[in-house]
Order: sequence, then C-alpha cells, then structure tokens
Amino acid sequence: MKKSLLLYSLMAILLNLSCSPEKPEVAIEAHRPAFHFSPPAKWMNDPNGMVYYEGEYHLFYQYYPDSTVWGPMHWGHAVSTDLVHWEHLPIALYPDEQGWIFSGSAVIDHNNTSGLGSPEQPPMVAIYTYHNAPREKEGYDDFQTQGIAYSLDKGRTWTKYPGNPVLPNPGIRDFRDPKVRWYAPAQKWIMALAVQDHIAFYSSPNLIEWGHESDFGQELGAHGGVWECPDLFPLAHPSEAGQKWVLLVSINPGGPNGGSATQYFIGDFDGTSFTPDQPLSTRWIDFGRDNYAGVTWSNAPETDGRTLFMGWMSNWQYAQVVPTDNWRSAMTLPRQLQLLPSAEGISLAASPAAELTALRQQTRDIPAQTLGGTLQLVEPGSPSGTLLELELELELPENPGTVIHIRRSNALGEQYTLSFDTANNGWFSDRRQAGKTDFSTEFATATSFAPRNILDNKLSLRLFFDVASVELFADGGLSNLSEIFFPREDFTGLTLEISGDPVVITRGAVHTLGQ
Ligand code: FRU
Repeated sequence: MKKSLLLYSLMAILLNLSCSPEKPEVAIEAHRPAFHFSPPAKWMNDPNGMVYYEGEYHLFYQYYPDSTVWGPMHWGHAVSTDLVHWEHLPIALYPDEQGWIFSGSAVIDHNNTSGLGSPEQPPMVAIYTYHNAPREKEGYDDFQTQGIAYSLDKGRTWTKYPGNPVLPNPGIRDFRDPKVRWYAPAQKWIMALAVQDHIAFYSSPNLIEWGHESDFGQELGAHGGVWECPDLFPLAHPSEAGQKWVLLVSINPGGPNGGSATQYFIGDFDGTSFTPDQPLSTRWIDFGRDNYAGVTWSNAPETDGRTLFMGWMSNWQYAQVVPTDNWRSAMTLPRQLQLLPSAEGISLAASPAAELTALRQQTRDIPAQTLGGTLQLVEPGSPSGTLLELELELELPENPGTVIHIRRSNALGEQYTLSFDTANNGWFSDRRQAGKTDFSTEFATATSFAPRNILDNKLSLRLFFDVASVELFADGGLSNLSEIFFPREDFTGLTLEISGDPVVITRGAVHTLGQ
C-alpha cells in the first residue's frame, strides 16, 4: 500500500512537471469505467470486426464521433495485446456515398483468396453493412447492402473495395451485420447475416462473390424483436470427441428481462445449413439487461484455442439517455466461451478471460465459515473499495427459503443488490436504489432475474464491479448477468447478508482491482 502511495505521488509530481500551465487538468468523468473499454468521447454501440493478428486484438466498434447519441455510423478502432488494456486508434471506416458503416466482422485472408493482398502480406478484410439513409427515407426497402474494405498495415489504414456492394439487397428492410468465418472442410467463407426474423447463410470462395446457402430460425427461438448481429462458430463438445456449432443471435426488443439481449442455439453445421439440437427453452448468453450485439474474435491463435467474446454493455431501451456527459457506453469484459453440461443438456458458458487476473491488486481471503446474518467484506468509505472482484464458493442449505444478498453501498444511502434466492434457484439484480434512474422510465422498473442452469447445492461465482457496472459469472459461467448503474458517489461498501438458514462458505476472496 505504502509503496503504491509513494509511486502515485511520484507519478503525480512527474505529471505536474510535464503539464504546461495552460493545459486544463483532465477532469475525472462521472461513471467512466476503469477497466472496461469505453470510447474516448461520443457515441459507441456494437463491437465490430474483432480479429486477432500478429499479437494484437483488434476491436472496432459502431461509432458516431459528432454526438453522444446514435447517428451516421463509423467504425471506431482500438487494439490490445492483453485484452485488458486498450490503445485508441484513429477511426477506421468512414461513411461514404453508399451509406453509413453498420456492424460487421473482420478476418485475416491468409490464402489471399480475395486477391486484395498477397500470400506474403495477407489482407485484413472487413465485411460490414452499408446503411443508405437517404434511400430509406425515400421509401425503398433495399437500403442495407454488404460491403468490404481491406487493410495491408495491421488495420491502421483501410481501402474500400471498388466493386462494393459485394452482396446487394434483395428487397428486405433488415439485411445486416455480416459475420464471416473460413470453413476449412469446403475451403470457403461462410457469412451469417441477420435478415429480419431469421439468419441467412451465404458462402464465397473469395469474400467478393457471395451465394445464398440456407435460412435458419424463422420458427425457432425468441422473436420479440428484430434479429441482429449473428455469429456462428464451433466449440469442443464437453463430454464427447468432436465439436458442436453455436449460433448467437441478438434480438431487440424481446430479451428475458426487457429490451436488447442475445440468444443462442447449439447444433450442427455442414457448410450449408445449421441444424439445431432440440432446445428445452430459449437460451440466453446473459440474462442481464446490458450485454447486447456481442460476437467472437476471428483468427484467435490456434495455439491459444480459445473462443473469445465481447458485447456492448447497454440496452437500446435507454442507451441514448444514460447520464454520462462526454461519451456513451462501454463494452462488457472479454469472455471465454465453452460448452458445459447443465440441467438443460449442454449449454454455452461464458467466463472472464484469464488475462483479467492481471487487474488484481490486493487479495483478502474470506475464511471458510457457516454464515447466518451479515458479513462486511469491504468497509464503506474504503479508498480501494470501488473496483472489486468477489469470488465465492458456497453450499446452499437444504430447505428453500434462504436468500443471499450481495450489496454495494455508498455514503448517500444508495445501494445495488444482487441476491440469490434458493426458492427460485436464481439471481435477482436490483438497481432501483443504485443512484440515478430517472433518465428513463425503462431503466429501473423491476429487478432482473437470471435462473440457474444446474441443480447442484454447490454454488460458485465470480463478480466484477467497475465504477458503473456489475458482471456476474455463476457456476462456471452457466448463469451470467451484466448490468450497469449510475451511483451519485462511487460504491465502496460490500456486504454479504444471509436471510433464512445459514450458508456454508467453503472458499472466498475479495480482490481490489486496478486499471
Ligand atoms: C445492433 C444494431 C445493428 C446495426 C447497428 C447500427 O445494435 O442495430 O443491427 O448494424 O446496431 O448501429
């Protein structure tokens, strides 16, 4: 602690020395996340074009640099070598005469199938939706088409393909968000595209000429809103040799707790069509209200083997009115996706990317104990009490009727509460008293519920608190919930409160987190 204080003062002196007196000090912005990605300024929504290349994770994103509300879309850009610390780069793609640049993906064309680079210098190719706003205004239905652009310098500069659009519109209003991957067995590219109420699959030998393969989902899954931002990828089967394919589909509105959310299907893909396994219910990658339009990184190194995901940590119900001044929105933490056995057969689990342990600063173990009543985990007012990770392993009592509350608080009496209720076998997230809520009537109307997906009496969780968000990863990532909140003063207190029968804590730790 002393060491870091000393370092801090040294840094402050150095910073002061290097600041010219005319330059105003950078104000600490209310609600600005510390360890989540957020844009330097102005409006951001979906993550786009996430691709790994030569040691860098690229994150492009829906960006409107002229306002803090949605408008003519660009692709903003950042890179990271560790998925935790991000370097902002100049805007990658600007709107042009064909339209605004909506969501899409990026791939490394290693075999130079497109001819846009060379085998020695494979192009990074972005595949995105052109949204032609004037054409939409004029009453046409074909205002969304797919275009491509390429970069030969690690994503720093981009050239739009002169033959755009590569996939014209057949006369359908919602025709967007291409996610492309290389399908090695047939040596072709596969595109998953959101088309109103279903996903269309297209294929191409070269990222330029595209042919329709199949359609999926008109009669399946949740249809409370338009389908957007699909992603199709394989994952290892949890108990047998081989793999299953997962299809992510974001829908807005129609999420399990209102507004925007992302459902998924597990099944098989044969290079032409996706055949889902029989689901027991609609499946959600995250039950919280603030994880939308998430997709996975392309071209992650094979030696790594992970499938990494990131979502937009907001909800179209209120994203444009949240009380931040200079920018709007953050991304979720990066997550590793895996298939795990569950009460509903195999399920998709998302757990925090391993790199996030680098954020840990000080760790205090929670001694094993049987707990009834309240345990103060972090004192209110604690200077390092805002950025936290909580790990807990518990044994639940046999009788239903016990509720475990994990509560954050500040000196103003505001609080955020995450509760596990044994009677419902699930989690309730309550941000109704967590600070500013009156900017939208939809923001804090009710608690959000995330059901558990296993029947075990052992419960484990990892919980991340940033300045303005909570992310719950329970039971190895089988039950997840991501939500944002806006306290007038940072939360510092953290308590664990048991009502009902005592609960056995078998292991636990509180980690203070840095940036
Ligand atoms: C999802 C979405 C996409 C679209 C983009 C526009 O949040 O509506 O379907 O491409 O945002 O910004």
